[in-house]
Amino acid sequence: MATSIDGLMQPKSIAVVGASAQPGKIGYTVVKNLIDSGFKGALYPVNPSATEILGLKCYPTINDIPGDVDAAAITVPAKFCPEVVEECGKKGVKGLYIITSGFSEVGNKDLENQMVETARRYGTRILGPNIVGYLSNSDGLNASFAPFLPLKGKASLVSQSGALLIAIDASSYLRHVGFDKLVSIGNMSDVDFADNIRWLNNDPNTTCISLYIEGFKDGRAFIDASREAHKPIIALKAGTSAHGAAAAASHTGSLAGAAKVYGAAFQQAGVIQASDLDNLFDRTLALSMQPPMKGDNLLIITNGGGVGVLATDSAEKYGIPLKFAPADVQVELKKHMPDFGSAKNPVDLTGMAGNEWYGDSVKYAYAHPWVDGLVVLYCETAITDPVAIAKSIKQAIDESGVKGKPVTASFVGGEHSAEAMKYLVENGIPAYGAPDIAVNAMGALREYARMQELIAEPVTSCAPTDRKAALEIIAQARAEGRSSLTEIEAKQVFSSYGLPVTSTVLAKSEDEAVKLAKEIGFPVVMKIVSPDILHKSDAGGVKVNIKDEDAVRDAYRAILANSFKYKPTANIHGVAVQEMAPWGTEVILGSVNDPTFGPTMMFGLGGIFVEVLKDVTFRVAPVPANQALRMLGEIRGAPILAGVRGEKPRHRQAMADTICMYSSMILDLQDEISESDANPVLLYEEGRGVKVVDARIILKKK
Ligand code: COA
Repeated sequence: MATSIDGLMQPKSIAVVGASAQPGKIGYTVVKNLIDSGFKGALYPVNPSATEILGLKCYPTINDIPGDVDAAAITVPAKFCPEVVEECGKKGVKGLYIITSGFSEVGNKDLENQMVETARRYGTRILGPNIVGYLSNSDGLNASFAPFLPLKGKASLVSQSGALLIAIDASSYLRHVGFDKLVSIGNMSDVDFADNIRWLNNDPNTTCISLYIEGFKDGRAFIDASREAHKPIIALKAGTSAHGAAAAASHTGSLAGAAKVYGAAFQQAGVIQASDLDNLFDRTLALSMQPPMKGDNLLIITNGGGVGVLATDSAEKYGIPLKFAPADVQVELKKHMPDFGSAKNPVDLTGMAGNEWYGDSVKYAYAHPWVDGLVVLYCETAITDPVAIAKSIKQAIDESGVKGKPVTASFVGGEHSAEAMKYLVENGIPAYGAPDIAVNAMGALREYARMQELIAEPVTSCAPTDRKAALEIIAQARAEGRSSLTEIEAKQVFSSYGLPVTSTVLAKSEDEAVKLAKEIGFPVVMKIVSPDILHKSDAGGVKVNIKDEDAVRDAYRAILANSFKYKPTANIHGVAVQEMAPWGTEVILGSVNDPTFGPTMMFGLGGIFVEVLKDVTFRVAPVPANQALRMLGEIRGAPILAGVRGEKPRHRQAMADTICMYSSMILDLQDEISESDANPVLLYEEGRGVKVVDARIILKKK
């Protein structure tokens, strides 16, 4: 078991190995920053030749330091690092901030692994290498070459990019978004996001965990750590554009872009996403200061119709559409506005609203049980004082005596409005220069509450499985040197995990096809069975609605002729004869074995246009049926499943159960299956279940 990262996160004594007396060097800056940040613990510069650096006694090696050392910042060139890590291990240093670059990020993996192996032997934890360092306001600790400690605040940020961390550090003052800790995580050779999330979750000085992510080494560890956290986590994920989808052999493979898979994983992990850097700041501010919005009722109070309308649009955009305020709220609020105001929602106090009207209406509305979240907007006028209004808002919130309900604000105006917002933020109310941002921030607080509800739901399980039968089919295909299963084999595998497949049998001759068709019952479907022909329709290898013996014979001959023509070298097993399932809504199920998150499931509208419509949604397996039901609601075509134009609603629970079984299958067979599709799956009306009519499994290379 890995040792704790306490030594890294809350050291009582720090050495700087590679400390330098030369201004401009990183080894100098780190020592200076530790002094300037007011670090109260013992500080030991280590340098082979210097006797004193910045007034501190200097030691030739870490071993010469008389007392214990909790953490060491390493600023020696890469080639010396393994030796320094060994010395630190011997000294019993608990954690290392390895600032030095020149490791796996430039292909120098061996050097990095060597350090990690050494550190593991001694139980020393490594942050980095290739980091800016670590900063903590509550510990007065700047063990980095970032310019200074960030503006004090309650969020803590973990960043995979050092440059971005420095930028966030410096701009925290301009943006009035404060942080307690900034953790540069670099190459994540040892300490990763999951370690940080677990530690920060127990840190009394952190109320929100903010992440800048480029990629994970272990996506599932991230999901587990995030799900266990009881604080909001917000992530900005970079690099979501291309994901090697081009080489995919299945529909699912070609649709599973990084953005979609990461999006699914964040959702399952209960992690809120930021759309860009500004949004990361804005949402972090709200999540670090305000409680989650536990219901859907948002009330907006404004002094301007225009910003009220803008905020109304935003509310819909961010998943908290406005409803009219209840009658009692309207009656009471009408008392704090002129006749031409509106108390419906948005509540328009009109441009005449001063601090009294604002104060009275905020105090009443905030305390009203119908209101789950409050957004207060203000446009600067010549007859009102923004700072006085900000103060009246704060006072009203305090005097309401209500806790556990979120409020955000937006003041649109000039310097006075900026001053008013600064006051609000310093007093725990997130305030922004545009109404859209204030509503977006409230949207994040609502999202957090919804995600917590989802995570708290009990996990439902699926039907029993027959793993042995599935493995035998796969082993047989592998023994024949194949990298994919035929449709019949794939259906057998599906069926061994409880998936409802159409009965399909292989005919090796025309006569056999006739016999089997009679056994199944007309009409039947006939399809080519060849590991070399994946797209059967394209090859003219599929005939449907075959009604009698003659038609079976015609179809058999035509399918073989077409397939030989399509691919003369194809190895043809025969022709599958299968029951012709009645018409149903065509959906697709599929899977990829994602490099970061492992087996990942797709659901969406299926059929031949699946890659054009791209109406699909993803989850990392396993997907319990209750979560699968949510997938059904996420696609654009969700209303089709609910029943449109006189059609009855589809059998959603059967679909969700099937997704659950499919996800168990891909998890259980993750060492065997690389990609798979069930397309189409026919989804019938309520009570009639689903039927998988086509199946494809691509095997993992071994
Ligand atoms: N123990 C203690 N001190 C040692 C040492 C050892 N084993 N080996 C070397 N040193 C000392 C050097 O003597 C020097 O001190 P001096 O100025 O008194 O001579 C000091 O360590 C630094 O070594 P130096 O060779 O001068 O390197 P540098 O300062 O030019 O560069 C790094 C060192 C670590 C800053 C550089 O290699 C590097 O990685 N820079 C990139 C950092 C970065 O960008 N990180 C990621 C941000 S996202």
